[in-house]
Amino acid sequence: APGTGIKLHFKDSKGSHLKTVEVNEGDDILSIAHEHDIDLEGKHLFEGRCQLADLCDPGACEGSVACSTCHVILSPEHYDLLPEPEDDENDMLDMAFGLTDTSRLGCQVKITRELDGMTATLPSATRNMFVDGKKPTHH
Ligand code: FES
Repeated sequence: APGTGIKLHFKDSKGSHLKTVEVNEGDDILSIAHEHDIDLEGKHLFEGRCQLADLCDPGACEGSVACSTCHVILSPEHYDLLPEPEDDENDMLDMAFGLTDTSRLGCQVKITRELDGMTATLPSATRNMFVDGKKPTHH
C-alpha cells in the first residue's frame, strides 16, 4: 500500500537520531512512539523512583493528560503550526522535566499533513531539578 508520505523524526535527549517513521494523519505522537518502540515513558524516573509521585501511574494515563511522561520537544517551525495547548496540558507541562519553549505532551499532538518533517526530541531529565525540588519555568 502507498505510504502517507508524512514523516516524523525522533531524537534522543542528546539530539541523536533515533528513528524516522511514516505516520498517518490523526495519529498522536504517544501512540506513534508506542507503535515504534520508542520509550517516552521512563524519562521521569530517577534511580527507579517516580518523580511525579501520586500524579503518575506510568502506562495508566494513556493520553488522558494526567502524567506528563509523554513530554516531547518539537522542532520550532512545526510547534508554531499546532493549536495552543489546553489548560490541562499546560498544567502538566509545568511539572515536566526538561521543559522547553517548544515542549508539548505527545498524547495531545495529532499529526496533520503540514507537520511532515517534524522532529520530536525526548527531554532530558536533569538531576538538579528534582534534587533542588524546583519546577522548571517557562521563559
Ligand atoms: Fe499522560 Fe500524555 S500520556 S499526559
